[in-house]
Parts: sequence; structure tokens; C-alpha cells
Amino acid sequence: MCRHLGSNRPPIVILTGAGISAESGLSTFRGDGGLWAGHRVEDVASPSAFERDPDLVYEFYNLRRRNLLSIDVKPNAAHKALERLQSEWSERVTIITQNVDDLHERAGSCNVIHMHGELLKIRHLDSGEVRSWNDDCDGSTLDGRWRPHIVWFGEAILEAAAISEALMSAGLFLCIGTAGQVYPAAGFVHEVAGPSVEFNIQGTAISKSFSAAVLGSAAEHFPIFVDALLK
Ligand code: OAD
Repeated sequence: MCRHLGSNRPPIVILTGAGISAESGLSTFRGDGGLWAGHRVEDVASPSAFERDPDLVYEFYNLRRRNLLSIDVKPNAAHKALERLQSEWSERVTIITQNVDDLHERAGSCNVIHMHGELLKIRHLDSGEVRSWNDDCDGSTLDGRWRPHIVWFGEAILEAAAISEALMSAGLFLCIGTAGQVYPAAGFVHEVAGPSVEFNIQGTAISKSFSAAVLGSAAEHFPIFVDALLK
């Protein structure tokens, strides 16, 4: 449950990336196994790929959706620690996620902005209507005019105004499990006035922009950081 009690504590923004879900059994984009069936992710996650070979793009997301819904995939200790931070911190805690999975929601988090869309939703190609969808989706789904509700390369991120507002009012910025190679997310660290901490198993393209770094598994280290923050 999200609370907002009012205190001298600053609002917090947390940016999450594929690394936070790695220990839940979802593969990251750019590490080992970051390729899919011999394709670079960029080559199947773009409007031109969908025009050229829609079946390939549908299949890519169908496999990822099925994997997300498999019994073994569940929120890990880092997702749960984020939910605890939202419940117990007395100021606003906003999660901006690049992830299209629903593991923050399954951990009980609220105030989650899915800037790159959501795997468990589909969008109508003509009307833009978005609906929840847990099954495969292809060119014959419903009236045949539906696509994954995912932001592809070259498309605008979702909820840009809400993201801007959250970043402007934040006094602490935390970044968990992102390689810092995809903009605009990789530039968010420059938009927050207060300190910033990066959590990653290794240094990234944007490490030098942070005030501090915690190197190691997010599931192991982030809960310890939350304990310290809440003390
Ligand atoms: P990447 O796969 O590029 O990077 C994952 C990051 O997580 C790497 O820096 C890893 O070192 C780190 N990592 C892996 N396991 C970790 C762990 N257990 N604990 C902490 N860190 C860990 O994923 P993103 O940066 O999220 O966009 O990718 C950004 C965007 O590029 C994605 O949202 C997607 C992709 O193409 C779209 O689909 C639009």
C-alpha cells in the first residue's frame, strides 16, 4: 500500500531495468543470451520489423509473454524491497520502469510508470485502445488489428509528462539494473537535483553520473539499502 504522510524526507524516484528482473528468471537484453533466435533485440522491436515480418515480431512477444506467465517467474527480494520502501517511506516513491513485465505490481507496488509499455497488454492499431491480454497475440487476434503494447525503437516513450514531473520533484534518484544505453532513460540521472545511487552487478555506460554505486546482485543488496534508508 502506498502512503504519503508528509515529512522532511525527499520524494524518491527509482528507475528499474532488466537487471532487477534477472533474478526472477527473465533474461536481460544485452548480456549473455541477450540475442533472440539470432536476432538483435533492436531488429525485432521496431515498427519497420513489424511491417516487414509481423509474424516474427508477434512470436517474439508471445514467447516473452508465455515466459512471464510461467510458474517459475515471480518477484524477487529487490521488487519486494521496493514495495516496502513505497509503503514505509513518508514521501512519494515513484517507480519508473523500462521493464514490460508486471513484477513490480505482483510485488504489490503502486505508482509504477511503464515507460516502455507492458507485455500483458495489447493496443489497437487504428483506435489506440489498450486492453489487458494474457494470451498469444497475432494477426488473427480479435479483428486482426492488434499489436503488443510495447514501445519499439524509434517510438516515443509513454507517460513522458508524469516522468518529467516525478524527476523534477525528486530529492533522491536510485537506478537498479539498467545498462544505461537506451535514452531517454539513460539521461534521467541528470534531471534529479539530489544524490543518486546506481545498483548493478557491474559498471555501466552511465556509472560516472551517479553520486554512489552499489556493485552486486540487486536482490541481495537493494533490501539492505532499503533497511538502512528506513532506519
Ligand atoms: P539491459 O539488458 O541492457 O541491461 C541490464 C543491466 O542489468 C546490465 O547493466 C546488467 O549488468 C544488470 N544486471 C544484470 N543482472 C543484475 C542483477 N542481478 N542485479 C543488478 N543488476 C543486474 O537492460 P536495460 O538497460 O533495462 O527497451 O535495457 C533498456 C531497454 O533496452 C529495455 O527496456 C528495452 C531494451 O531494448 C525496449 O524494449 C524499448
